[in-house]
Amino acid sequence: MSRPDDRGGSEPEAPMTPNDPAAPVRGVRVHCVLVAAGSGTRLGDRGPKAFVELAGRPLLAHALEGLARSGVVDSIVVVGPAGRIPDADAASRSALASAGWTGPLAVVPGGSTRQGSVVAGLAALDDLAAPDETDVVLVHDAARCLTPGAQIRDVVEAVVGGHGAVIPVVPVTDTLKRVGEASADGTEPVTATVDRAVLRAVQTPQGFTCAVVRSAHEFGAERAGDESLAATDDAGLVEAAGGQVVVVPGSMEALKVTTPWDLRVAELIVAGR
Ligand code: C5P
Repeated sequence: MSRPDDRGGSEPEAPMTPNDPAAPVRGVRVHCVLVAAGSGTRLGDRGPKAFVELAGRPLLAHALEGLARSGVVDSIVVVGPAGRIPDADAASRSALASAGWTGPLAVVPGGSTRQGSVVAGLAALDDLAAPDETDVVLVHDAARCLTPGAQIRDVVEAVVGGHGAVIPVVPVTDTLKRVGEASADGTEPVTATVDRAVLRAVQTPQGFTCAVVRSAHEFGAERAGDESLAATDDAGLVEAAGGQVVVVPGSMEALKVTTPWDLRVAELIVAGR
């Protein structure tokens, strides 16, 4: 599989289209639900995160261009902020056109939780592309807008290789402690040191066969409307339903832009590309 290893970000990413004959997943359709309906409150008072600008373009545009340039995505559903669908639609079409991507696109409103937004995206995907049970479905956070194409392709290839649920992960570098309830003075007692060697931090895109992601969301449907119960990732629903999830290496560039600090790091990554 001769692909540029763009995980480090120093190599310019080759523009590849779904019709690229070198594409590693010939014969398998790959769909992506891109969730971008988050409020972005932790980024400050800047409105919905999808439209916050990074190097002069919305986070949503960066995320879509990354998917397009991965060369393996055939159809895309963008799940946008409910009150801004015309804006999300215009930004999506413009970003994908500039990346030379011409596949089927739908832009639909999200829910009150990430899980609810994914459910809305999966329903829209049925209408847009009528996926087969064996097609690959990626669920990707728009907030991970600089995810390298190699990471997207690695996830797809692992699903095509026979794994029903695949997640990119990175090792945990901090020492981690478990803490107990805060005492009267507000300090929290340490109750344990957690073995970080067996822990991984989870990224997106998470890749599934269509059958696996559908049944996982059906299994977890009751949790979707309640933020305190809702799944923060889709693989968690597969696990809860008793399914097997495997990991592939993620990358630091796939950071989730959540805080103003993350945005500054993302600016540096873009400047270095
Ligand atoms: O809130 P969190 O950081 O987990 O968000 C991860 C991704 O899920 C973001 O891309 C965000 O836009 C999306 N999201 C969503 N609908 C929500 C909450 C989050 O699409 N209700």
